[in-house]
Amino acid sequence: MKFFLDTANLDEIRAGAAMGLVDGITTNPSLVAKEGKDFKTLVGQICEIITGPVSAEVVSTECNAMMKEARELTKIADNIIVKLPTIAEGVKACKICTEEGIRTNLTLIFQPLQALAVAKCGASFCSPFLGRLDDIGHDGMDLIADIRTIYDNYHFSTEILAASLRHPLHVVQAAKLGADVGTMPFKVFEMMLKHPLTDIGLEKFLADWGKMKS
Ligand code: E4P
Repeated sequence: MKFFLDTANLDEIRAGAAMGLVDGITTNPSLVAKEGKDFKTLVGQICEIITGPVSAEVVSTECNAMMKEARELTKIADNIIVKLPTIAEGVKACKICTEEGIRTNLTLIFQPLQALAVAKCGASFCSPFLGRLDDIGHDGMDLIADIRTIYDNYHFSTEILAASLRHPLHVVQAAKLGADVGTMPFKVFEMMLKHPLTDIGLEKFLADWGKMKS
């Protein structure tokens, strides 16, 4: 499973990159707005730190306008993935992007047929939002399982990017179900390596080592 960070914060991205575990980045308009910086400049800076896929989202809702944004975004860096909303206009834009060789991430996916449609249009990634489904009383993991089955049935190469992951257990579950990528906030990324027994065990090892006569 590839690990993506779901953030537009440069400090978090640098810290994640330093650990050597970050394969890519996802951003969205809310995450970018939080940083209060010029969108394209910020995305360019992210692409200088991370060489893997960096998703940057369009904010238009009509196909031609989306395509204009998509073509502009791809000029920022070679590793830009154009993020499009999974609405009819976004799916139309996805098809055109595929024809033009622009890589895409179709976002805000909440049901399996959206995932099937975007794969048929050649999306590079599909982003089911698990946490937001859990928030309204559904089991987001069912969606990952359904998409995995459908993509495997028809040999689609679209990668399943498990998004809206809120805690480490979400990452574990998505990995067990075969999601290709998990994108997570920095705080979840940090929690992935933590276990209290690891800290207690290490403390004891070092204390015992300290007692040893040299
Ligand atoms: C993914 O691309 C999205 O930016 C993200 O995972 C949304 O997560 P949220 O539901 O926690 O806002």
